[in-house]
Amino acid sequence: MKYSRLSFLVLCISLLCLVLLTQARRHHTKNKHTHHHKGSHISHPPSSSPAPEPAPEPELAPEPAEPPYNDGDPSNSSQVFDVRKFGAAGDGVTDDTDAFKMAWDTACQSDSAAVIIVPKGLSFMIQSTIFTGPCKGALVFQVDGTLMPPDGPESWPKNESRRQWLVFYRINEMSLQGGGLIDGRGEKWWDLPCKPHKGINGTTLPGPCDSPIAIRFFMSSNLTVQGLKIKNSPQFHFRFDNCQNVHIESISITAPALSPNTDGIHIENTNVVEIYNSVISNGDDCVSIGSGCHNVDIRNITCGPGHGISIGSLGNHNSRACVSNITVKDSVIKVSNNGVRIKTWQGGSGVVSGVTFSNIHMDNVRNPIIIDQFYCLSKDCTNQTSAVFVSDILYDNIKGTYDVRSPPMHFGCSDSIPCTNLTLSEVELLPATGDIVSDPFCWNAYGELQTLTIPPVSCLMEGVPRSILDNNDKGYC
Ligand SMILES: *[C@@H]1O[C@H](CO)[C@@H](O)[C@H](O)[C@H]1NC(C)=O
Ligand SMILES: *[C@@H]1O[C@H](CO)[C@@H](O)[C@H](O)[C@H]1NC(C)=O
Ligand SMILES: *[C@@H]1O[C@H](CO)[C@@H](O)[C@H](O)[C@H]1NC(C)=O
Ligand SMILES: *[C@@H]1O[C@H](CO)[C@@H](O)[C@H](O)[C@H]1NC(C)=O
Ligand SMILES: *[C@@H]1O[C@H](CO)[C@@H](O)[C@H](O)[C@H]1NC(C)=O
Ligand SMILES: *[C@@H]1O[C@H](CO)[C@@H](O)[C@H](O)[C@H]1NC(C)=O
Ligand SMILES: *[C@@H]1O[C@H](CO)[C@@H](O)[C@H](O)[C@H]1NC(C)=O
Ligand SMILES: *[C@@H]1O[C@H](CO)[C@@H](O)[C@H](O)[C@H]1NC(C)=O
Repeated sequence: MKYSRLSFLVLCISLLCLVLLTQARRHHTKNKHTHHHKGSHISHPPSSSPAPEPAPEPELAPEPAEPPYNDGDPSNSSQVFDVRKFGAAGDGVTDDTDAFKMAWDTACQSDSAAVIIVPKGLSFMIQSTIFTGPCKGALVFQVDGTLMPPDGPESWPKNESRRQWLVFYRINEMSLQGGGLIDGRGEKWWDLPCKPHKGINGTTLPGPCDSPIAIRFFMSSNLTVQGLKIKNSPQFHFRFDNCQNVHIESISITAPALSPNTDGIHIENTNVVEIYNSVISNGDDCVSIGSGCHNVDIRNITCGPGHGISIGSLGNHNSRACVSNITVKDSVIKVSNNGVRIKTWQGGSGVVSGVTFSNIHMDNVRNPIIIDQFYCLSKDCTNQTSAVFVSDILYDNIKGTYDVRSPPMHFGCSDSIPCTNLTLSEVELLPATGDIVSDPFCWNAYGELQTLTIPPVSCLMEGVPRSILDNNDKGYC
């Protein structure tokens, strides 16, 4: 009795093994087949697919074997998820949102590191989407093709957010990378009648004017954005809010000089940020640094045309703003409304401190160096006594040319809370064309020159004003 039960069990197990083995074999051939099919598919892209690059290469770039994905390090293999396997068409017309969502969900649940592939040579149209974490492992979002949203407000689904397109939410450890293009198709958004001078006869009409940010990272950490080209966002190209540990490298952002509100990279409440080796030209700030940012390092970026690198605006609606330890160095700013700017509204509080602008070349920039504590977008901002305290700002080795419509240096600081410890060293600015503007502007600005400047600055006051020494509230963050 005992014996026969055991043999029955053995029989069952053998049968099970046989079934599993056959299935595994089938699965294997199926994988092989789809892989082959994919290869032939990509070398003959549908003729309706708008080519993202001028000369699409007929040859496939060597693709990682799959699975496992191997990046050269044999100990490092990742699961690979090609969006086409989830039904994405990549013809530039079909709505591929669901395929991307499925690829995301599958990759996100993958136990090992996962790579989502957006293949080269194809264009994927996807709607506003929130890619949500946390995911089980690290993710690579490898964009080698083109990603784009619906074309303009008319084609935007009525029930979808008009404030953001691609959102990455609660992600830890992700790299958005590749040689592909993210095309924001912003043209129709910039021309809405509510945008500056786009109404009838050059007016600006009232009304809701929401336009989507192309890529937003929210409440995420350990992020890398590398290699990509991003163009023509309807609004900001990138926004990072409430993030930690952000590394941006070798990206290019382009939009026309007259495209409204198309900031390149906006960060706020985000700490430990590196922005390196990138090129940004657009219609607004190249990089804008909002409240709650600390430990930001920007190196070797080329900005312009555009509005330059900006800390602020801060302190709007009497808010408290805290920004510290920001470095911008080894960079070029050309044909821009501003160079390096700190702007705050009257009535705010908090501190901007520990900012270094070093080794920056200005090329035909209006307001190359500017602190504006009277920032105001309407005509009726009233004078208020509180202000964001601006202190410990170093301008070192800032050379080049300025647009003579404004003085090359402008330090407009609050009456009640002056700026302190501004340091100028090796600042040499000459007119791009026309006559030298010999009067840098200072208002309640305290600091020192470490070297003589061109043009000479004689309006900085020495020491620390009484109001700062007496004010116990200043510097509270
Ligand atoms: C493994 O590969 C992924 C994708 O290329 C990469 O992001 C990660 O840093 C690698 N990890 C290690 C330990 O090499
Ligand atoms: C909007 O409507 C479409 C179609 O009914 C639906 O698939 C989608 O989930 C909706 N989106 C939101 C954010 O509700
Ligand atoms: C726009 O300007 C033209 C020429 O000045 C004028 O005839 C027309 O009435 C204006 N349209 C509106 C809506 O103001
Ligand atoms: C990610 O960032 C957090 C802090 O934001 C850090 O504590 C953690 O170690 C990081 N994780 C990895 C895997 O790097
Ligand atoms: C600076 O960035 C550019 C890309 O904009 C790159 O080609 C160059 O190699 C970088 N320079 C250094 C020293 O890293
Ligand atoms: C300032 O930020 C840099 C990174 O940009 C970091 O290495 C440094 O430790 C920070 N300094 C302070 C005092 O936090
Ligand atoms: C506000 O303050 C500035 C600087 O002190 C002064 O020039 C301006 O006249 C003031 N405006 C009003 C409305 O009091
Ligand atoms: C003035 O600012 C510099 C940075 O620009 C800083 O190193 C120095 O400690 C500050 N001086 C005082 C007295 O706070």
